[in-house]
Amino acid sequence: MTIHVELGVSSYDIELSRGALSRVGELINLNRKVMVVTDSGVPTEYADTVASFAKEAFKVVIPQGEESKNFDCLQTLLAEMLDAGFTRKDAVVAVGGGVVGDLAGFAASMYMRGVDFYNIPTTLLSQVDSSIGGKTAVDFHGYKNVIGAFYQPKKVIIDPNVLATLDKRQVAAGMAEAIKMSLTSDAEMFAMLENADDIYADIDTVIEKALRIKKYVVECDEKEAGLRKILNFGHTVGHGIETQQAGALYHGECVALGMLPMCSDEVRARLIPVLAKAGLPTELVLDSAALREVMTAVSHDKKSAVGGVDAVLVHAPGSFEIKKLSLPEIEEKTKQSFC
Ligand SMILES: NC(=O)c1ccc[n+]([C@@H]2O[C@H](COP(=O)([O-])OP(=O)(O)OC[C@H]3O[C@@H](n4cnc5c(N)ncnc54)[C@H](O)[C@@H]3O)[C@@H](O)[C@H]2O)c1
Repeated sequence: MTIHVELGVSSYDIELSRGALSRVGELINLNRKVMVVTDSGVPTEYADTVASFAKEAFKVVIPQGEESKNFDCLQTLLAEMLDAGFTRKDAVVAVGGGVVGDLAGFAASMYMRGVDFYNIPTTLLSQVDSSIGGKTAVDFHGYKNVIGAFYQPKKVIIDPNVLATLDKRQVAAGMAEAIKMSLTSDAEMFAMLENADDIYADIDTVIEKALRIKKYVVECDEKEAGLRKILNFGHTVGHGIETQQAGALYHGECVALGMLPMCSDEVRARLIPVLAKAGLPTELVLDSAALREVMTAVSHDKKSAVGGVDAVLVHAPGSFEIKKLSLPEIEEKTKQSFC
């Protein structure tokens, strides 16, 4: 299936189908120099498949993990293209999760002021969320995604078959983002997840529905001036928890927890069983020192603004309210959920 993302001159298609990776040579023009970027945790055959179709392939494997979203790795990619004599007509293909996609996309946006970028996401999180929308970035000075660019891919190829090799906890972390989107934007999708005996049984439909939500949001608000903020539902407190947990919890797990303080009581009561079914955490106990750490991180968050934080609240599935909350108000909500 093809899903079109309409962004004027930056429009592109998402190809979502099982087996798409093996047809990559038909789906994108690889008859040129192609830098294929992957990481050390992604099974090597995925990037090798892409490289096998390229006229001239240059494969770069970065170390797996968030630590690779830095200037050193960015420089490695730029140097590879320069050394290989890439021109503006050549291309970059990311084969991996959000780390590879964000980094390779940023490198593509910079090299000669922009070369064609293709994203082949291989985690559920990147398939439902990070691979579309054009946000690319590296982390800097302890701040996540603080240096980056909006740079839309030329095409996104999503092959759910690659999820077979992904660790179950990573799959669940991606499901958190899909649940997040259903809660703000699609009551029917939330009900589908709520009523499913096995929430992962029809993962292709979950991916498609999440992509349609993200597509709509990005088409309405490419550069996050308004509606796109709803994608941050669960992220304000979630980022705080992620920092406080220092790597013990995945991003998606923190988003799952971060949604709880931002829901009405009724929505929370329905959300908790869905998170549990997905294998995501539903509880966290913060003592006063841990709460302080969470709140310090929330106050450092780049989305913090004078007068409070634009928080996304969900009072009923499929709807949202964007409301400026002061730090004490966020602390109170966090306390009610976790202290
Ligand atoms: N650009 C955006 O709009 C956006 C949105 C959300 C998140 N992000 C970013 O995405 C990143 C997180 O992405 P992620 O959750 O995909 O993590 P990730 O890229 O670190 O991948 C998670 C792990 O899974 C491994 N892996 C990937 N695909 C695999 C496969 N098919 N089989 C086996 N192992 C596989 C990787 O090696 C890695 O160890 C963060 O840096 C976050 O900031 C960006």
